Amino acid sequence: MSIKKMSKEEYLNKVKEIDTTKEAPKQLEDTNFLTVAKERRSVRQYDPEFNMDKSEVLEILEAATLAPSSSNLQPWRFLVIEDQKEKERLLPIANNQQQIVDASVVIAVLGDRDAYKNADRIYSAIAEKGRMPEDVKDMYVNSILDGYGSFSKERLAKIAHIDGGLVSMQLMLAAKAKGYDTVPMGGYDEIKFKKEFNVPENYEAIMLISLGKGAKAGFEKTRLPLDDLINWNRFE
Ligand SMILES: Cc1cc2nc3c(=O)[nH]c(=O)nc-3n(C[C@H](O)[C@H](O)[C@H](O)COP(=O)(O)O)c2cc1C
Repeated sequence: MSIKKMSKEEYLNKVKEIDTTKEAPKQLEDTNFLTVAKERRSVRQYDPEFNMDKSEVLEILEAATLAPSSSNLQPWRFLVIEDQKEKERLLPIANNQQQIVDASVVIAVLGDRDAYKNADRIYSAIAEKGRMPEDVKDMYVNSILDGYGSFSKERLAKIAHIDGGLVSMQLMLAAKAKGYDTVPMGGYDEIKFKKEFNVPENYEAIMLISLGKGAKAGFEKTRLPLDDLINWNRFE
């Protein structure tokens, strides 16, 4: 039997037809962490009339940036796309996924490969608060500049992607806790995106996240059984 192949765009957009639920995403009364983690779903249909307050977007981003990062260098950078014209420009670059234009904002999560150059700024702030002696701070900053400064582009990119994943997850959970919905997206042309939106060369494109008021709940979760995922102590 031959199975018809789908284009990337079909693959990404077909998902809405499979999803037959008519319900809006669940509004949580209980925002206990485990409830938020269980209830967050990738939401692909949004209320296009709903505008989020900038203060709420900032509050979500601030919570996201509490995520851990390698040597606390916080390499994440965000391009918040709120202008409808700019969202329209992004639409074809992101395989015409409708959530790009319907959600209140699209947040492009980026990772700066040169973030280690901020080591002095970050560690001086810690020292100024009296949480690190000045000489230890100097040693720390020097080791970071030497160490990260000697890493290959690929290694710095890997760090940016790991930290970028952590901040993205925290962003999506913070949004859910505040009554909003999100979908992470890797289905876009990174090269075109960076070019069209003047993204600096040293920034890695991590993912796009649509953020807004969900109109239709995402899929109920299906996950592989834990037993298939976990080994204890060492592999046989
Ligand atoms: C890195 C990454 C890229 C993704 N890219 C897309 C995408 O381009 N379009 C889309 O509709 N969903 C995308 N997803 C969402 C996944 O399909 C979704 O997370 C998965 O089906 C599990 O569903 P859940 O998020 O509701 O738990 C992406 C998820 C991740 C983590």
